[in-house]
Amino acid sequence: MSTYAISGSASGMGAATRKKLENDGHRVIGIDLRDAEVIADLSTTEGRSSAVSETIRLCGGALDGLVTAAGVGPPVPGELIARVNYFGSVALLEGLRPALAQADKASAVQIGSNSSTTSPNLPAELVEAYLNGNEEESVRLVNLTPRPFDSAIAYGAAKLAVSRWCRRAAVGDAWIGQGTTLNVIAPGPVQTPLLQMGKDDDDFGPLLEGFPVPAGEPATAEMLADWIVFLLSPSARFACGSVIFVDGGTDALLRADAWPETFYMEF
Ligand code: NAI
Repeated sequence: MSTYAISGSASGMGAATRKKLENDGHRVIGIDLRDAEVIADLSTTEGRSSAVSETIRLCGGALDGLVTAAGVGPPVPGELIARVNYFGSVALLEGLRPALAQADKASAVQIGSNSSTTSPNLPAELVEAYLNGNEEESVRLVNLTPRPFDSAIAYGAAKLAVSRWCRRAAVGDAWIGQGTTLNVIAPGPVQTPLLQMGKDDDDFGPLLEGFPVPAGEPATAEMLADWIVFLLSPSARFACGSVIFVDGGTDALLRADAWPETFYMEF
């Protein structure tokens, strides 16, 4: 039996992942605003540090895996999206990393999004502010975009930045150097309360409904949970710093040749 921590364990993909891991006989420490072993608000510094200390206490200092799935999406105000989706995720990844290093061959999965590559005009300055760990500057930049589109900007930029953060960290001494894998799953639309809230919104509903998804219907949370559980498993140990798109084809449709891409160097 292994011990996993999952943020956002009360709903959607986090809850579906929790169920699969528990059905396989593992122990899950859920972190969420409600219905979890660790009740914490990841939008605040106090909530993040209590989430880290309480999770470390409950797991006895060693964690076999971590899934950072807690998040909010449009039409929630951009400021809250920035605080939860980027700063809440990175605080858990950094804070729980030593517990992952304590376990033998641990693994972490961050839930990104295809909004990182399919939302146009994400401000580079905002992505940098996220990556520099400058929370108040990030919020200031998010608030330059008027409501309601601050949500979409904050969301796409947070997912782009957190994916880059994971790629940079994954290959370093602190992560794979300690035997801990770190990868990102980038879903497209997944039928969860987060997506439904967007669909029900007067501004975002028509945008979401009009977004092209070659595979058609949204995925289910259980479909994504299968990918997440696989990335936590020993079979996925050679995946390191990967951003895996499971998005029904939207990224390939809109940006077929953007990746893979070569690079040039002088010989
Ligand atoms: P969901 O709404 O079903 O679950 C999100 C969970 O995060 C909820 O249990 C909620 O209570 C928790 N949460 C929200 N704010 C929190 C806070 N301040 N502190 C602690 N916990 C908090 O959403 P879903 O769809 O399962 O989302 C999971 C992740 O997947 C999110 O990061 C989301 O951005 C991402 N995602 C979702 C997509 C979708 O279409 N549903 C597509 C791409 C990415």
